[in-house]
Amino acid sequence: MSKAAELRRLVNSYQLSQAIHVAAVLGIADLLADGPRSSDDLAEATGTNPRALYRLLRALSAFGLFHEDDERRFSLSELGDALRSDAPESVAGWAAFVGRRNIRDAWSVLEESIRTGENAFKLAHGVGVWEYRAQHPEESEAFDRAMASSSQLVIRSLIDAYDFGRFGTIVDVGGGNGTLLRALLEEYPGLNGVLFDQPHVVEGVDLGDRGRVVGGSFFESVPEGGDAYLLKWIIHDWEDEESVAILRTVRAQGGTLLLVERVVEPPNEGPETKLGDLNMLVGPGGQERTLDEFSSVFDAAGYELVGETPTASGHHVIEAAPA
Ligand SMILES: C[S@@+](CC[C@H](N)C(=O)[O-])C[C@H]1O[C@@H](n2cnc3c(N)ncnc32)[C@H](O)[C@@H]1O
Repeated sequence: MSKAAELRRLVNSYQLSQAIHVAAVLGIADLLADGPRSSDDLAEATGTNPRALYRLLRALSAFGLFHEDDERRFSLSELGDALRSDAPESVAGWAAFVGRRNIRDAWSVLEESIRTGENAFKLAHGVGVWEYRAQHPEESEAFDRAMASSSQLVIRSLIDAYDFGRFGTIVDVGGGNGTLLRALLEEYPGLNGVLFDQPHVVEGVDLGDRGRVVGGSFFESVPEGGDAYLLKWIIHDWEDEESVAILRTVRAQGGTLLLVERVVEPPNEGPETKLGDLNMLVGPGGQERTLDEFSSVFDAAGYELVGETPTASGHHVIEAAPA
């Protein structure tokens, strides 16, 4: 492929992303879990237009997600298998989230965001993501499923790289629907956990005998009694001022601070982190950081950086202690 053709494919990649999103929303991969099916059959099962669905599936097959046979029957490829909702490292929740209209509307004002430095989601919707999701329960649920789905991709790498079992009680601050904490409680039989997030997010979550669930705002207080306070993908959602405010609230409880975040790599490296950073500008209005930038946020909040453990998934466990 020529460089121009390569670039053109990159330019058009939002179209592919949206096509995968629709396949995820329709649950195509789950419908193919037991074997090949015709596109007409899939159209009936999903209540879609047979011709349009065929065109979607043949395009995705050309990109390797499915395989089309001579009779317009489709089966799952190894790549498309990760779109099953119960795949071990499922991407289904994330794919079903990224193409939602409120997210795409935010990306559509990226130019304005780059010109002004303002958060694109707020420019597009007039309110930030957390307020928007509190007002739109279906968007909040789609986001929580996306986070749970994305967490599945990294949890094993975190446990392989860092011994969370050395703590008696871990408070997962902004822990969403508890996907990570549930996995930690399963991995370490001696561990107790507290899941803390906004009330509408943790409503109805049950973590069993060793897990407590608390609703609230981390700008006001976080539950006491943690030997470690774990914040996975929280600080990158916020600019420095809010990040320091959150960490000061956590600092008031003492204990070890554990962040799980990407760390911005040197120039020309780390495309996932740097695209993720743009996603923070567009979505919640935060940023990815270098280790030095984390260190300054820690200083301002009364912590000192103790260490940083890279993991196979590209996410780091960053440890800090009260200064
Ligand atoms: C990017 S998600 C990360 C969720 C989870 N830690 C994970 O890694 O999957 C950020 C989380 O912060 C929570 N959050 C946002 N504002 C909050 C607040 N003021 N108090 C508590 N949690 C909040 C959201 O509800 C969401 O679950």
